[in-house]
Amino acid sequence: MPGQMNVLSVASEVFPLVKTGGLADVVGALPAALKPHGIAMRVLVPGYPAVMAALAKGRQVHGYADLFGGAARILLGVVHGMEIMALEAAHLYDRPGNPYVGPDGRDWPDNAIRFAALSTVAADIGRGALKTWTPDILHLHDWQAALAAVDVRHRGGPRTVVTVHNIAFQGQFPASVFPRLGLPAAAYSIEGLEYYGNVGFLKGGLAAADAITTVSPTYAREICTPEFGMGLDGLLRARRHNTHGIVNGIDTAIWNPADDKALVSSFTARTLAKRRDNKREMEKRFGLEKDDGILHGVVSRLTWQKGLDILASQLDWLVASGARLAIVGTGEPGIEGAFATAAQRHKGRVAIVMKYDEALSHLVQGGADTMLVPSRFEPCGLTQLYGLRYGCVPVVARTGGLADTVIDANEAALAAGVATGFQFSPVDEPSLQNALQRAGNMFADAPQWTKMQVNGMAADVSWDRSAKHYADLYKQLKG
Ligand code: ADP
Ligand code: GLC
Repeated sequence: MPGQMNVLSVASEVFPLVKTGGLADVVGALPAALKPHGIAMRVLVPGYPAVMAALAKGRQVHGYADLFGGAARILLGVVHGMEIMALEAAHLYDRPGNPYVGPDGRDWPDNAIRFAALSTVAADIGRGALKTWTPDILHLHDWQAALAAVDVRHRGGPRTVVTVHNIAFQGQFPASVFPRLGLPAAAYSIEGLEYYGNVGFLKGGLAAADAITTVSPTYAREICTPEFGMGLDGLLRARRHNTHGIVNGIDTAIWNPADDKALVSSFTARTLAKRRDNKREMEKRFGLEKDDGILHGVVSRLTWQKGLDILASQLDWLVASGARLAIVGTGEPGIEGAFATAAQRHKGRVAIVMKYDEALSHLVQGGADTMLVPSRFEPCGLTQLYGLRYGCVPVVARTGGLADTVIDANEAALAAGVATGFQFSPVDEPSLQNALQRAGNMFADAPQWTKMQVNGMAADVSWDRSAKHYADLYKQLKG
């Protein structure tokens, strides 16, 4: 196609093959979103067992006799309409567990090497290793792919974009790992990979990338401050003219309340009453009492970032107020335990399903009245976007992408008829309680509540706008 650009997107996760969080959703949605903009995007991911199973019929496009201690090859296949390239390297990726940790919950001890290999291969492809397909741009997601920007900076290759999905995860390793990364000695410098005496994959990538993006405008500003920058704010301030906040969209085909197999009843903004069937199903699945009062929902990793310890401390109050809460999530043992104990104490009113369950997450969006996201920081957040699309009113902390995507139901927004949810700040017990109280009060006002749901469902949460920002950035970089 004339004017078409090739982009290689490199990541450690891609939906629907391997997902631990929003990164996978974004990486899985970008190729289709960018296609109408003349971008042919392929996705390079490690050949974990689930990826290799999906690419069983893949075609080998490149091979390595020795890639960081074992043979490897790149397989190309089409999965769910996406051109995926799997880096098959059994010695690095053919393991049980999730992409980062083993079944014992500990990081794989060779993670530095596992993701250095992914980055090396990305840089090789950037320099033309495949012969028949060479990217104009390498789009590198998070620390697991960031090293490719360092590689390209030293050895040549196409323009690079590093996207920060979460600056809390930086890929820091002891300096002793450096000689095994396959990079020239010059890469270990203060302007390069060196980071407080360690090796910092993300730090190196941010210093080397031609452009940096992060997943919302507010987070792009926040990470330039010591409070949110997690040690990288100085570097990001220096690079702020090359940094862009591009808010995530969602895959509106996968997340479509009008046609969602995970729901008991599909619905539209005109048939919101059908959500009640999904609520009834949730009550059964979670073991909650049948009730038409407000039912709050949470779909999340249970971590400090997500502020769910704060929610856990409010459950006696929440139940006393007449509300119910359904959680699907796993994470830190302390937070899991707090919710499990509360679920015991408030049987039928608070319930938690402690597993990763994609279908159940759809049911919660389609049946709960609110989606609670009390994050201490949130680069973008996707669950509030799914909530908007599903008439599941978001109650969110005013931070990062949450601040950018939800319109708070304050007096002015209500008067203008544009509110889509509730925001609160700071992230502490009193303001969360206040937000839950506001949500509860408004829920009792059915016409107002319905108006908020309809507003949310009309909001554009698709990739349409943001995909163009990425496409423009690629084109600008290619020159
Ligand atoms: P993060 O990537 O920081 O975890 P996001 O809101 O961007 O936060 O994305 C989280 C993604 O993971 C969403 O697609 C959400 O639905 C999904 N998710 C989180 N926990 C679970 C779970 N226990 N079961 C199913 N999906 C989950
Ligand atoms: C990260 C962030 C989340 C964001 C996701 C996708 O996991 O924590 O806020 O939505 O990446 O960009």
